[in-house]
Amino acid sequence: MADSSFKRVVIFASGSGSNAQRLMEYFDNHASIRIVALFSNNPEAFALERARKFNIPAQVFTREAFRNGTVLEQVKTFNPDLVVLAGFLWLVPAHFIAAYPNKIINIHPALLPKFGGKGMHGHFVHEAVLQQKEKESGITIHYVNEYYDQGAAIYQHVCPVELEDTPELLAKRVLALEHEHLPRVVEMLLQEQK
Ligand code: GAR
Repeated sequence: MADSSFKRVVIFASGSGSNAQRLMEYFDNHASIRIVALFSNNPEAFALERARKFNIPAQVFTREAFRNGTVLEQVKTFNPDLVVLAGFLWLVPAHFIAAYPNKIINIHPALLPKFGGKGMHGHFVHEAVLQQKEKESGITIHYVNEYYDQGAAIYQHVCPVELEDTPELLAKRVLALEHEHLPRVVEMLLQEQK
């Protein structure tokens, strides 16, 4: 298959990048989909190293470059069919969203619309779920709009919250669900695209 006939995915990540790694593993040698670049707002993000191990171009950007359109211009050079926010913590500017309608998705470690919004990421989410004595948590994969965690849901998967859970135990259960389902949902969305 010629390179141009692959569907192309750009990943944004801010931290460890375990979801990014799962995507890179899943689509390594995939018949029709390629991860073509990883962008990070955090020069210390381990996600950058993971990408480099897969020979995937990885680059860091500043808040200014994200706001003034420089990052959009850089992303455009990769001609993505889908942009996946995999543990990415900044709000995406409106001009960037407008450039990729229904082509930017995010994974969130809870059952939105509960436990979303600014500051609701990583362990803060799991602490809040335990504090509210929820019986269930899970993952939400959703389209991205200009508000934190408010775009339409694409896929949710529930897991139990156990009585003896700590934020760490719950985080581990939820992350395992993310790793299992995110690549599959990305694949499904790209295969549905015309
Ligand atoms: C994941 O649990 C992801 O859902 C969460 O950050 C973690 C990143 O892990 N994202 C958010 O909380 C976004 N609001 P990773 O860097 O190992 O993929």
